[in-house]
Amino acid sequence: MSNGESRSAFERDVLAGLSATPKHLSSKYFYDDEGSRLFQEIMALPEYYLTACETEIFTEQSGEIVNRLLAEGNAIDIVELGAGDGVKTALLLKEVLAKDSSAKYTPIDISEVAMTELVENFRLQLPHLAVEPKVGDYFTILDEVRKSSQRRKAVLFLGSNIGNFDAERTALFFSSLRAVMNEGDLLFIGFDLQKDPRVIHRAYDDAGGVTARFNLNLLERINRELGGNFIIDNFLHYANYRPIEGSARSYLISRELQKVEVAGREFTFEPWEPIFTEISQKYTLAMIERYAADAGFRVVNNFFDRRRYYCNSLWQPK
Ligand code: AVI
Repeated sequence: MSNGESRSAFERDVLAGLSATPKHLSSKYFYDDEGSRLFQEIMALPEYYLTACETEIFTEQSGEIVNRLLAEGNAIDIVELGAGDGVKTALLLKEVLAKDSSAKYTPIDISEVAMTELVENFRLQLPHLAVEPKVGDYFTILDEVRKSSQRRKAVLFLGSNIGNFDAERTALFFSSLRAVMNEGDLLFIGFDLQKDPRVIHRAYDDAGGVTARFNLNLLERINRELGGNFIIDNFLHYANYRPIEGSARSYLISRELQKVEVAGREFTFEPWEPIFTEISQKYTLAMIERYAADAGFRVVNNFFDRRRYYCNSLWQPK
């Protein structure tokens, strides 16, 4: 499977999610080849401001960001979790290399395919950068990196990927990261901030319907890989934003009473029954401070885009 998940885990999770009340499917399964392609399309949409905001921060403030990364004076290696296409990271790495030519870049991803493409991009864009890609579990690899090198590390987790975790998993994720980081290391995270709810809503329900295709592709993937027989037109993409919780949520809604078979099991969908597929959490600065403090970090610096839609937050172990 293209995202590195084993087929049996995918099957097990899909069958469990479709048997649950309410039904749910994990957004981590969006990213097969077609889903990854659609996500690239989403990132270029005018409504999907997140990528543009983070790119603006990296384009205009990479000098300051890298000065903060190197503030302790000694060299640093950059480790990136879920590196994606690495386009934004390259902006930062260019600046790092200019100031510390010994810096190494270790992208970590569960997808072998994504990693191969990323490494090739970097070879062309930044031929002098030492790239040491690792495929596998973030925490296991970070622990290995920690044991094998005395150099300071800056761990990047960009793109508001953290927003796809619920509150409990977010807290666990940050404290697990803290456990594999040393005192002088840094954590640099992209957070999408709470803002005009209409702006957020549009980002998850674009006029061209790309996000709808991205969400519906999960059903196509189940058809392709698990022998499902979803009729895609019988479902619709629905996204909403809950301003009290600060979360955008995406669903696939059954348009009618229907039965669907997946991996030899039959599931009944009531008319307008939802399958919950994704949370995209939006943050306040107070939430960011709290997550940092609860996991044993202090916030060193926050970098914002001009509209203050987005924040790249730099944390250090306390
Ligand atoms: C990858 N992740 C941060 C995206 C988000 O904004 O939650 C995934 C996405 N879902 C719909 N549009 C983009």
